[in-house]
Amino acid sequence: AIPAVLAGEEIVQREADLAILPGLTTRAWTYNGSFPGPTVVTRSGRAATVMHRNQLPEPVVVHLHGGHTPAGSDGYPIDQIMPLPPAAVHHDMATMAGDTTVGARTYRYPMQQRAATLWYHDHRMGFTGPAVYRGLAGFHLVRDDEEDALPLPRGERELPLMITDRAFEEDGSFRYPLGDADYMNGVLGDVILVNGRPWPVHEVDPARYRLRLLNASNARRYRLQFDPQPPGGDAFVQIGSDGGLLTRPMGHDTLELAPAERFDVVVDFARWKPGTKIRLIDRDGGDVMRFDVTGPKTDDPSRVPPVLSTSAEPLPPPKRSRTFRFGQGRDGTWRINDLTYQPGRALARPRLGEVEHWRFVTDFHHPIHLHLNHFQVVSRNANEIGEYDRGWKDTVDLRASEAVEIAVRFTDYTGTFMLHCHNLEHEDMAMMADFVVE
Ligand code: C2O
Ligand code: CU
Ligand code: CU
Repeated sequence: AIPAVLAGEEIVQREADLAILPGLTTRAWTYNGSFPGPTVVTRSGRAATVMHRNQLPEPVVVHLHGGHTPAGSDGYPIDQIMPLPPAAVHHDMATMAGDTTVGARTYRYPMQQRAATLWYHDHRMGFTGPAVYRGLAGFHLVRDDEEDALPLPRGERELPLMITDRAFEEDGSFRYPLGDADYMNGVLGDVILVNGRPWPVHEVDPARYRLRLLNASNARRYRLQFDPQPPGGDAFVQIGSDGGLLTRPMGHDTLELAPAERFDVVVDFARWKPGTKIRLIDRDGGDVMRFDVTGPKTDDPSRVPPVLSTSAEPLPPPKRSRTFRFGQGRDGTWRINDLTYQPGRALARPRLGEVEHWRFVTDFHHPIHLHLNHFQVVSRNANEIGEYDRGWKDTVDLRASEAVEIAVRFTDYTGTFMLHCHNLEHEDMAMMADFVVE
């Protein structure tokens, strides 16, 4: 199980030697010595702080992905926590110099948002890919009364699952091909880790489980499926997406997760015969993890109600529409509207409180992410939305030659926020833009 921390506690970013592969250690960059980092649990409507202390050799930036967070705590890519000089590490000497902090920083999260599976990760300009790859990622769960009132699986039967892929050197260290040809399109690994462990086996009762699936990989997309499938199909009953509960549950045989997307699903392991070893596989049959159904039939008080939430009313018509083109320059850099990222240059200045439609177009594939507000997908290729587009989203999978239109209302906070590709190497290679809410 992943360790947990409560809001108000401190997270120390430091190097640690992890046992990921049998017989080897992997030097990782961690939050509190673990990968994934500790799960932060907060309550909707209750302001929270998280203090981060940087004991790594390089600057860091912390972003709460999916957080409805004011600009000052959002983790702007040049808003760094500088490392302390080694001699000072044991002293409490956090000092502020403009926006940059030395040693430690307190991030303030108002948590004026509904229950959802969020995550936090590094966001340093130009170096997000390698920092996350080395281990700087963790869950942040927001809970609220609406969700607590539902009879969903909980406790031992609620599992946050962070899926990542990594490549390793023979000595067990992470292999990150900075700058070479494998880097440009996004770094892929050949070992799938779930919660930091390769191809784990989890024993489950023949009962319903809630799986909070997060694709925290730098660039890999997954198409998940169970083998064997349960009789009757629809193994995954989706109850939520990036921004919390759907209005109604929806069954899927397969789930497609682009980087940074979350799918909250209920799986009823009583649908397989006890003793079945169920593989969770990726599209090409590659193993992700295994669930072994053990034990006799037990009491299962959980259920998936036909109505989950009432908060997915469509947004009113937009005040304004904009188009963002995600492409590659002749020099190989990844661009938005033919511009490489430059801090302080805004590609859009939406007004506080207004609804806008943003159209994303491309000829490659890019998972597109917006900070500050969750959005609704309104069309894909001028048609109905796709099977995986439902609910409140903060990341949408834009595939080759596609156009996706989203509706978003900019609420509560003015200031500078980010729009970017969540293929982390594309992001580091400048496929990112500021937008300023005015
Ligand atoms: Cu998960 Cu701006 O990122
Ligand atoms: Cu984000
Ligand atoms: Cu991209």
